[in-house]
Amino acid sequence: MKVLVVGNGGREHALAWKLLQSPKIDQVVCVPGNGGTATMKGCQNLPLAVDDFEGMSKYALENDIPLVVVGPEVPLAQGITDFLQTKGLKVFGPVQAGAQIEASKAWAKALMEAAGVPTAKAAVFTEPTAAKNYIRTERAPIVVKADGLAAGKGVIVAQTLEQAETAIDDIFQGQFGSAGNSVVIEECLLGQEVSVLALTDGLTIRPLLPAQDHKRIGEGDTGDNTGGMGAYAPAPIATPELMARVQTEVLEKTIAELRNKGIDYRGVLYAGLMVADNGDFKVLEFNCRFGDPETQVILSLLETPLEDLILACIDQRLAAMPPLAWKKASAATVVAASGGYPGNYEKGKVITGLDAAQLAGAIVFHAGTKLNSTAEIVTDGGRVLNITGLGEDFQQAIAQAYTGIKEIQFSRMYYRRDIGHCLLNEES
Ligand code: AMP
Ligand code: GLY
Repeated sequence: MKVLVVGNGGREHALAWKLLQSPKIDQVVCVPGNGGTATMKGCQNLPLAVDDFEGMSKYALENDIPLVVVGPEVPLAQGITDFLQTKGLKVFGPVQAGAQIEASKAWAKALMEAAGVPTAKAAVFTEPTAAKNYIRTERAPIVVKADGLAAGKGVIVAQTLEQAETAIDDIFQGQFGSAGNSVVIEECLLGQEVSVLALTDGLTIRPLLPAQDHKRIGEGDTGDNTGGMGAYAPAPIATPELMARVQTEVLEKTIAELRNKGIDYRGVLYAGLMVADNGDFKVLEFNCRFGDPETQVILSLLETPLEDLILACIDQRLAAMPPLAWKKASAATVVAASGGYPGNYEKGKVITGLDAAQLAGAIVFHAGTKLNSTAEIVTDGGRVLNITGLGEDFQQAIAQAYTGIKEIQFSRMYYRRDIGHCLLNEES
């Protein structure tokens, strides 16, 4: 079977890599893909925009590709699943109505409240004066969020009232475009974050291994927020007891509430949780897709063929699938970024050492790379590569990832040297 994968990040390279491990998958076509998907055996890129639904459906139908797996949230929020389904294609990823769970934080908040899902206290505003009055009664620290999709940048954790007021003004003055037509103001939660991604067919829910990512650019989890500078799985903070509670108190209630609203949600439901020191947790956000870079570590550990799970979600037969099989191992990924990211950075730097990193035992997922006209792999984004290691424990997995990344060079490459630091302190 052939599969079309939509997106161009490390997540999509990992999805294509995992799908191609199955003898049932002969080819993966990535739209638009990156330098990794351009050069991986069995994989090729199709240079279309991720919102060119017409172009994708035409290509899929002409080339006997029955299945489309969607990586990013933007095409899901634009209704890619609804559109391609009308053309007779099988699509992994929720319909547009379901993608609102990520595309509107206010909508997700109302859904959580209706479903009784534990989440931070919040209020929604459509103009600045009422929002500012509210923060004065609630006090800092407080969290200000643009309602819509802002590529992970629309959340400001304000330590002072002044910062919160500035954030409110910035959002209403259009810093995030129409994503900022309304603002969600939320109580500031303390604790450790964990990502629980679950597969669902709208009835049955199967959680994947829990993962944690490092969101800040600087070592010691300092500096600006990024899309994620590294990740690891299975996250020890998500104990079996916590996962059992997440299943009943978050995932099942959310899917049931979506069904109440007439939304048949099939795909990945990703719950971002804050876990307090006493083990209580609240939902920070939902995403309607696989996480990036969590997917790179989760899929490295998955033994069950991914296409079987994907088709079971689409065809609503997840309940009949055997329990998911996982490698008895730990996985860690370290992001190699362009110097300057998450601010301004240059592109087009030649990358060397990719084969050597693999020979050293690491799995190299490409994110912001491309194959240039002289067959070189060059940088093409902020987060460039996800160098992934597996091991019997986190110490080995992390060491493996760093052994790999030391082989890689490009001008102004930056990576954090402390991915998983909290785990190593716990293990030692
Ligand atoms: P979100 O996109 O809603 O997950 O927010 C992005 C990041 O902002 C999260 O991963 C947290 O690090 C932080 N954040 C969001 N909401 C809160 C909150 N209520 N309290 C503390 N931190 C938060
Ligand atoms: N790693 C966070 C996300 O995918 O949203």
